[in-house]
Amino acid sequence: MMKALVFEKGGLDNLKVRDVEKPMVSSHDVLIKIKIAGVNPVDRFVVELTREVRPIPHIPGSEFAGVVDEVGDHVTDLKKGERVIVYNRVFDDTCDMCLSKSEMLCRTGGIRGVITNGGFAEYTTVPERNAFKIPEEVSWEVAASLPVSALTPYHALMEAGLKAYETLAVFGASGNTGSFAIQFGRKFGAKVIAVSRKNWIRDFGADDVLAYQDVIGRIKEITLGKMADVVLNSLGSEMWLTALDVTGLKGRLVFFGVLTGSKVDLALDRIYAKQIKIIGTTGGTRKELQELIGISTSLNVRVWKKFKLEDGAKALKALSDYERDGRILLEI
Ligand SMILES: NC(=O)c1ccc[n+]([C@@H]2O[C@H](COP(=O)([O-])OP(=O)(O)OC[C@H]3O[C@@H](n4cnc5c(N)ncnc54)[C@H](OP(=O)(O)O)[C@@H]3O)[C@@H](O)[C@H]2O)c1
Ligand SMILES: [Zn+2]
Repeated sequence: MMKALVFEKGGLDNLKVRDVEKPMVSSHDVLIKIKIAGVNPVDRFVVELTREVRPIPHIPGSEFAGVVDEVGDHVTDLKKGERVIVYNRVFDDTCDMCLSKSEMLCRTGGIRGVITNGGFAEYTTVPERNAFKIPEEVSWEVAASLPVSALTPYHALMEAGLKAYETLAVFGASGNTGSFAIQFGRKFGAKVIAVSRKNWIRDFGADDVLAYQDVIGRIKEITLGKMADVVLNSLGSEMWLTALDVTGLKGRLVFFGVLTGSKVDLALDRIYAKQIKIIGTTGGTRKELQELIGISTSLNVRVWKKFKLEDGAKALKALSDYERDGRILLEI
């Protein structure tokens, strides 16, 4: 048996620690003793059942890291005791999307922790192809941020084709994904503008930190009227028109979420007249996760609070705490 956070009816108050069966290891799987998990908006959507979730009763948790505890008969590359992170997409490795290295779009797939049980538990099993070894020097906090918080903006910036001489603007820059987008923007060599209420994001590589109220005017000043080449904005309705306004000629507005809602005035005239590309992305590829592991020792994460497994519901509620100032992690 093992301890896991489980809910049967939707709602954060129904999320409780329970003793459940420890998962069985089949021949191509590894059993991971989970050490730490990242808490993300998706986990809250899962527990609130605002998306299709299975199985029910359900163990949430889409981003986690741990140590290999047992391997199946056919596992060749991983051994007990190795530190691993988990690529969090379920994929069949046979459809056209998988074959074109877009496993996150697998036609029969989905997100681990959403369409399978997840990592808010003492143990989980994943196919060997989902488990990636990480260097000894990488902290558990960074490790627990690579599969979602880092991979998603990395893939988004790749899709947007950010170049060294361009200007990147990141909305919600102090958030889980935002703080990594800022670091990648800097590594890509771009000029990086953080749109955030938190000034500390400057230490992550932002050249400028702008408040939401005066963002259009300030980006105009900073770019001498050109506006941003790439805008990363997953804040949804509340910031859509502002994001369009700060996107310059031939700019790319990229997003992978709609945190404040998905209903927007598309403002078609502003899109064609500036020849803007609007790019939706989701997750990233295993190849990109491998690239991130390669640079993981140079990445930073700001942790606000760590919770124990039994306080999982509190951890998820804390995501929308007004005082929140960095990542929320679950130590298991
Ligand atoms: N499709 C995918 O694969 C994928 C993966 C990861 C995340 N997502 C989505 O991307 C979005 C961002 O995720 P995240 O993990 O970075 O979220 P997060 O950590 O909660 O960050 C959001 C940030 O946005 C800013 N913000 C501004 N107005 C806000 C408001 N009204 N409510 C909440 N935050 C506000 C805050 O930063 P400042 O204080 O700096 O302003 C906040 O820290 C979410 O919708 C999430 O579901 C999608
Ligand atoms: Zn597939």
